[in-house]
Amino acid sequence: MPKLSITYKILKKLGIHLSPVKYGEINPFELLGKAIRLWKNEILQMLAKSSVIIIPAPLAVRVLRPMLHRWRGVKVGRNVSIDQEVIFDSVYPEKIHLADGCIIANGVQIIVHKRDFSDYKEGDNVNDLGYIITDTYVGRGATIGIGAIILGGITIGDGAVVAAGALVTKDVEPYTLVAGVPAKLIRKF
Ligand SMILES: CC(C)(COP(=O)(O)OP(=O)(O)OC[C@H]1O[C@@H](n2cnc3c(N)ncnc32)[C@H](O)[C@@H]1OP(=O)(O)O)[C@@H](O)C(=O)NCCC(=O)NCCS
Repeated sequence: MPKLSITYKILKKLGIHLSPVKYGEINPFELLGKAIRLWKNEILQMLAKSSVIIIPAPLAVRVLRPMLHRWRGVKVGRNVSIDQEVIFDSVYPEKIHLADGCIIANGVQIIVHKRDFSDYKEGDNVNDLGYIITDTYVGRGATIGIGAIILGGITIGDGAVVAAGALVTKDVEPYTLVAGVPAKLIRKF
């Protein structure tokens, strides 16, 4: 556990209990920088989710939304299609990699951070835990169906299809179809 900074202690007194492992040594400048970065990311995400209001759907899907997510830090390849209401990790968008030609349908969520529960035990406060942050890759020409959730550290192979509503907790082989919660192999193409 790091030595806790005054900024951290003030935040905790104000009822903002951040992870001491991750934020314990934070200073006011870092705090401001992080807050502004998060704010920027949230605003761009909000614009991306509803960008059909600004320009018609095909352009929103193929041009505006990929651009807004690139500005957030998501690594977006060429000719990527991103539909409405998609959520790419609010805090670590730069850990998400979308290869050329992949399709991300409505309501997909890719979340690359989670609490580190490895030493968690009865009586612990979950807010004291650190985080595990891992990159997630969507391969060339892969299709992610409506409402699918993909977790951190996952690689979706080239040309793979993730069915609507799937929860992907393991890597998906190229040119296979997975479905369900958790996602399982349905067939190879
Ligand atoms: C993945 C998908 C394309 C599969 O369609 P398909 O090739 O016609 O496959 P089938 O309907 O023949 O289904 C094959 C098996 O997978 C199962 N399955 C299909 N989709 C499923 C899903 N979303 N969740 C769980 N199981 C599913 C079927 O029940 C079937 O199982 P069975 O063999 O035991 O009967 C389709 O189900 C899907 O999820 N489409 C996404 C729609 C979408 O997101 N559209 C926007 C695209 S931009």
